[in-house]
Amino acid sequence: MTAVTAHAEDALISRPDSGRNQLRARLRNARTRLAVDAVARASDAAANHLAASAEYAGARRIAAYVAVGNELDPAPALARAHADGKEIYLPCILPQRKLRFARWRPGDSLRESRLGIPEPAAAAATIDPGELDLVIVPLVGFDKSGNRLGNGGGYYDRNFGFLLRRRQGKPVLAGYAHAMQECPRIETNEWDVPLALVVTETGIRHFVPGNPPAARPPEIGT
Ligand SMILES: Nc1ncnc2c1ncn2[C@@H]1O[C@H](COP(=O)(O)OP(=O)(O)OP(=O)(O)O)[C@@H](O)[C@H]1O
Ligand SMILES: [Mg+2]
Repeated sequence: MTAVTAHAEDALISRPDSGRNQLRARLRNARTRLAVDAVARASDAAANHLAASAEYAGARRIAAYVAVGNELDPAPALARAHADGKEIYLPCILPQRKLRFARWRPGDSLRESRLGIPEPAAAAATIDPGELDLVIVPLVGFDKSGNRLGNGGGYYDRNFGFLLRRRQGKPVLAGYAHAMQECPRIETNEWDVPLALVVTETGIRHFVPGNPPAARPPEIGT
């Protein structure tokens, strides 16, 4: 597996958006170098951690994503969720960078979105994002406060911006990432929607809105 390089990024992330873009590129490059079997093992381990969580136990409707590149793959977690009788939804890309969450069951066919990412067919039933219980969120980087660096389109920020006004309640946003995607600190903008927790192959870390991360003992790596 690739060595952890993200912790060397402090200098970059203190700059404005150009720094975010550089950090994004570096993290993506580091992830590209992960071995395929390491990604598969990490995805299985993350599924076990997620399945043991209270957030998963309490969720009936779960949204996730189709992994591309070396993203941590939610597929093993979704197979388990389906077996546990939970409803699964996947994002479809709409104009104006909107996301529509469409019902999907393991084995259902997918078509290619305008971004080249597989998504459910247009006829699949959809759900309002606010009706989801748990969203497994893709990301490029995360920090110890639950700040997220996404793929750069603002899709998740736009479609879950209503959580910024609520801070609590449905859905719970769970970042899903390799542990090597953690950064010391990610500068945020007012539109960035923070994560409630992050699941990696090493465990789960919960974040408390408005509190420093030290307020709760870290669960990752313990
Ligand atoms: N709620 C919003 N309303 C309007 N524009 C937004 C909103 N959220 C983000 N944007 C725009 O989207 C662009 C990308 O945002 P950002 O850099 O935070 O993406 P990201 O979080 O990395 O991407 P994603 O959420 O798709 O993974 C920003 O330039 C911002 O102007
Ligand atoms: Mg953002």
